[in-house]
Amino acid sequence: MDVPRRRPGTAAGRRAILHAIAHIELNAVDLHLDILARFTHVPMPPGFADDWVQAADEEAKHFTLLADRLEAMDSFYGDLPAHAGMWRAAEDTANDLEARLAVVPMVLEARGLDVTPGMIALLEKADDSMTVAALKTIYAEEVAHVAYGSKWFHFLCGRHENDPKAQFHKLVRKYFHGALKPPFNVEKRAEAGIPPDFYWPLATDSEI
Ligand SMILES: [Fe+2]
Ligand SMILES: [Fe+2]
Repeated sequence: MDVPRRRPGTAAGRRAILHAIAHIELNAVDLHLDILARFTHVPMPPGFADDWVQAADEEAKHFTLLADRLEAMDSFYGDLPAHAGMWRAAEDTANDLEARLAVVPMVLEARGLDVTPGMIALLEKADDSMTVAALKTIYAEEVAHVAYGSKWFHFLCGRHENDPKAQFHKLVRKYFHGALKPPFNVEKRAEAGIPPDFYWPLATDSEI
């Protein structure tokens, strides 16, 4: 489905951007709860559920922040078409918890860390301080979601005696379609426990 072009200088462009992010946040609520419901056959410590319930709660807040901004701009969530990419990743990794952790928090949510500062800068230029505040809240909280992904991915690699870096490369190449896109937010990715040698080799199709 065609998704409208997003020009941040216009009100319609900002509505399209906010709609796209609201859609991602709503998908993220489902994804963080899906990881708990779908993989109950994999025994995990109680902290695993604590982390994803916390993340789902934060995503619900993020969605509400953006839905409120859309309504303040005479729009609403559901007003525009939206991408299906995030849920497709959930389906692709429905049978592999390690792959789910690698693709959803460690690739897709980490990508959010890369692109959000640029989006904040664009909206600052457009003098949209309420939306800037919402995005800053989201940006601050998303680091922890990526960190939960990294933490539990490493936990499972330890359980199966797999090298985390090699396992990450293997699973992302198998389950994620396409190369990762630089520029990367090196600082926030490091804060979330993802070092450059995890993502740079995946930025092209080259074998490492
Ligand atoms: Fe979020
Ligand atoms: Fe998140």
